[in-house]
Amino acid sequence: MKKDYKLPDLKLASNRTGETKKVIFEISDEYKTLGADKKYFIKTHGCQANQRDSESIAGLLEDMSYSPAKDETEADLVLINTCAVREGAEDKVFGEIGALKRLKREKPSMLIGICGCMAQEEKTVEEILSKYHQVDIIFGTHNITSLPKLINDVLTANKKRAVEVYSKQGEVIEEVPVTRFASHKAWVNIMYGCDNFCTYCIVPYTRGKERSRLLEDVVKEVKQLKEEGYVEICLLGQNVNDYGRDLKLGYDFADLLDEVAKTGIRRIRFVTSNPWGFTDKMIDCLARNENVCPYLHLPVQSGSNDVLKLMNRHYTKESYKELFDKIKKAVPHYAFTTDIIVGFPNETDEDFKDTLDMVDYCKYDNAFTFIYSKRSGTPAARMEDLTPREVKEARLQELNQHVAKWANESMQKFKGQTVEVLVDGISKKNANAYSGYTVENKLVNFTGDDVKVGDLVMVEIEEAMSFSLKGKMVSKVEL
Ligand code: 5AD
Ligand code: SF4
Repeated sequence: MKKDYKLPDLKLASNRTGETKKVIFEISDEYKTLGADKKYFIKTHGCQANQRDSESIAGLLEDMSYSPAKDETEADLVLINTCAVREGAEDKVFGEIGALKRLKREKPSMLIGICGCMAQEEKTVEEILSKYHQVDIIFGTHNITSLPKLINDVLTANKKRAVEVYSKQGEVIEEVPVTRFASHKAWVNIMYGCDNFCTYCIVPYTRGKERSRLLEDVVKEVKQLKEEGYVEICLLGQNVNDYGRDLKLGYDFADLLDEVAKTGIRRIRFVTSNPWGFTDKMIDCLARNENVCPYLHLPVQSGSNDVLKLMNRHYTKESYKELFDKIKKAVPHYAFTTDIIVGFPNETDEDFKDTLDMVDYCKYDNAFTFIYSKRSGTPAARMEDLTPREVKEARLQELNQHVAKWANESMQKFKGQTVEVLVDGISKKNANAYSGYTVENKLVNFTGDDVKVGDLVMVEIEEAMSFSLKGKMVSKVEL
């Protein structure tokens, strides 16, 4: 059978040519009733960018008259939005696709679609096409707005399968419909893609070239969210320090943050700001805007200069500490978190010790720690790696002990304090309690009366654990 699609191409995806181009999306009338009387279910893996993409996918499906299903058994269309950052995440997805086979046997009309970062990898797409015949639709991170057409291809044009994955692009698509999954906090994309090519990371290949949204488009979205009653927004980009660079319009991330702060939205967060290109202008901007939450995620990845160099990170342990100290001095009330990878190819005991030293120096409020996972197509995948798995696991454990110690310490100072919490809902741990986050991004479980999602409440902290706080509500904050 002749293929009418092109497989993704990781090599092609590493090109960085072309200008950022804004495109306005509009759904074609012929797709608007395709989903009438049908239900969809989206399973999302991975980072906030994927969560936000799933909200656009839900928006598109609802514009096609699909309605949400409570789970996959009720759905006529199941989509898995995948993550490719580590092997473990990919294995999970293959397990889920396998499990959907039985469901499809019971309901042959059900459509199954795979999207997200795994759909951008040629080997994954080849594997799905050859082994997982239950999958009807595959679309990449740049092809979300093609979903209505792909569904149409399978449902009405009787195509056996619909596949669309672009590997090269410079587009920013605006006015894509969105169904937000929460009504009190929202993600706002400010840019897409990544141009840094850290040697372990697949993201620059799966999400492509850095493209910024126009400042006025971001601000307009935030203003609208505020009007709709949203209390918190999180500005998203793989590397927000680079915001605006591609547009060449004379503004940067600090300018954007100032403008977003001026909207008066109550809480502003952003991820991810990396330890390079973190300008003094940005630090000043954090210090002057009170509605920017006092919380900074500053991924260090490793404390060893040799490893940092091999990772293509643009700093040394000395320059990272210098930046950390400078920010801490300007905004002493800020909480800091980080990402750390252990077991990068041939990380020595000495290198690992440098990472522990970094954790002990910065005394992070928390750290997300990972064992290096080989991603085929990246430069690190070609590096020799002789460190046994057991050694890497032992390092992760030791690292986590250091992380937990400082995390616990950072929590203790909240004991006895009264803090502002934005309520997410019923606590996962206790059905009689609620949970939410402080401005510093600390998880708080608390008891109280007449509390609902989206409330801002003051909570007196009675107990502090390493990764959460416990308390009781003392009052509500008027919004
Ligand atoms: N192996 C392990 N961790 C990785 N990350 C990115 N790529 C890999 C990989 N190949 C981690 C980094 C990054 C976070 C989002 O995921 O720490 O900051
Ligand atoms: Fe991956 Fe590095 Fe880009 Fe982050 S900055 S997405 S770790 S390549």
